[in-house]
Amino acid sequence: MQTHKVASVAHNLASAAAPRLITEVPGPLARQVMERDARVTSPSLPRAYPLVPRRGAGSVLEDVDGNRFLDFNAGIAVCSTGHTHPRVVEAIRRQTEDLLHYSGTDFYLPIYSEACRELDRITRVGGPARSFLTNSGTEAVEAAIKLARHHTGRQYVIGFFGAFHGRSYGSVSLTASKSLYRATFGPLLPGIIHAPFGNRFRPNKPAAPGAFDGDYIEEVIFKRLVNPNEVAAVVVEPILGEGGYVVPPDGWLASLRELCTRHGILLVADEVQSGMGRTGRMWAMEHWGVEPDIVLAGKGIASGLPLGAMIAREDLMTWTTGMHGSTYGGNPLSCAAALATIELIEGELADNAAKVGEQLLAGLRGIAPRMEIIDDVRGLGLMIGVEFPDHDVADAVEKACFRRGLLVLGAGDSAVRMSPPLVVRPDQAETGLAIFEEACAEVAASR
Ligand SMILES: Cc1ncc(COP(=O)(O)O)c(C=O)c1O
Repeated sequence: MQTHKVASVAHNLASAAAPRLITEVPGPLARQVMERDARVTSPSLPRAYPLVPRRGAGSVLEDVDGNRFLDFNAGIAVCSTGHTHPRVVEAIRRQTEDLLHYSGTDFYLPIYSEACRELDRITRVGGPARSFLTNSGTEAVEAAIKLARHHTGRQYVIGFFGAFHGRSYGSVSLTASKSLYRATFGPLLPGIIHAPFGNRFRPNKPAAPGAFDGDYIEEVIFKRLVNPNEVAAVVVEPILGEGGYVVPPDGWLASLRELCTRHGILLVADEVQSGMGRTGRMWAMEHWGVEPDIVLAGKGIASGLPLGAMIAREDLMTWTTGMHGSTYGGNPLSCAAALATIELIEGELADNAAKVGEQLLAGLRGIAPRMEIIDDVRGLGLMIGVEFPDHDVADAVEKACFRRGLLVLGAGDSAVRMSPPLVVRPDQAETGLAIFEEACAEVAASR
C-alpha cells in the first residue's frame, strides 16, 4: 500500500508538463538548508543558484518547499534515464537485498563483470574491448592517462583548450576550460600540452580574419615542442562539455584519428558528458564515424549512482595484475543501475534524445532571430548550448530561467547549456522553450 502510494506520487510528479512555483525561490525551507550549508560545507563548491532539491521523477524536480521545476540539467547530465526511473530504482533495490559492497578489484564480483561485458559490447574501439570501472569521471581519466603512458612507454599527453576532464591532479592538468580550476594548485602533472579545440582558439566564436588556420598539433606541437613518438595519447571531448557545449567542425575528429594512427598515439574520447545516449547515439563519436582507442564514461552511465568506466581496446590493456584498481569502483549498486540504464538507453531513450533534441534545437533556432542577445544555438541531441554576448548575460538568463521554474546551467565563457534527462517529453520541451524565450526577453529588456 505504502509502496503503491509512493509510486503514484512519483508518477504524478513525472507527468507534470510545466513548473509550479508555490513560494518565491528560494523558499523558507530552502533558506534554512542554505544557511546550514553555508556554515558546514567547503567554500570551494561552485553553487550556480539557490536550488535545494528534495525529490525528482522523470524530468521534474521538486524542492524542499514543494516548488516544481522542469529539470533541463539532469543533475549536470547525470540522471540520463530521468530522476528515479522505476526500472533503475527496482534494479538498485533488488541489489541492496543481496550485497552492498565487495571490492571488484580484489575479488570476482559477478555484477562487475556483467557491467563490463555490457560496456564492452556497446563501445567501438577498433576491436574487442575490456573495461575498468571507477567511481567517477575524473578517476576514469586518471586510469586512461596511466594506461596510455604504461602501454606506449611515452610520457606526453595532448589535451585541448576549453576542455574539462575533472579535478584530480591528472585530469585537472588536462583541463583547460577555466584557469580557476588550476591556479594555485601547481605544479600540475608534467607532460601535458594543450592545443586549440577544432584548431580554433575561440571555438565558440567565428574565426577572426588572419587567425591561425593550420593544424596546430602538427605545425606547432610536433614541430616546436615534442616529437610525435614521445606522445602517449590525445584526450578529447567529442563535444566540449563544461567548456560550452561546442560541436567541433566536421572532419576534425577524423583528422585527429588519422594523426594518432600515423604516429602510434592513442586517441582517448572523454565521453563522460557526451556519452550514454545523450546526443542521440550511445557515444557522440559515432556521429562522425570515428573509433577511438579508449572511451571514458561517467555521469549518465548509472542514472545518478557513482560510476565511471575506462573502456579500452583489449590489446592496449597490457598492464599486469595489481598495477591499477579501486576499492569502490564498480560497486554492486552502481553496476545494477548501469545495467538497467544501458537497457533503457538502447531500448528507446537514445532515440528519444535524438527526437526531442531536434525539437529543442529547432525551437531555439526559431527563438534566436527574435532575441538579439542570442549569438548561437548549437548541439546534438539533448546536449544543447546557447551562446550569449558575454558571461553576465548568460548568467542573467540562467537565473531568470530558475525564477520561472526551468533549470539550465551556464557553460564555457558565455553560454547556457541544456542537458535534460533522456526521458524528456515533447510537451515539456515546448514549455521549456517558452520559458527560455521569456527569460531571454526579460534579460534583453533590462540591458
Ligand atoms: C567531459 C568530462 N570529463 C570528466 C569529468 C569529471 O567527472 P567527475 O566530476 O565525475 O569526476 C566531467 C565532469 O563534468 C566531464 O564533463
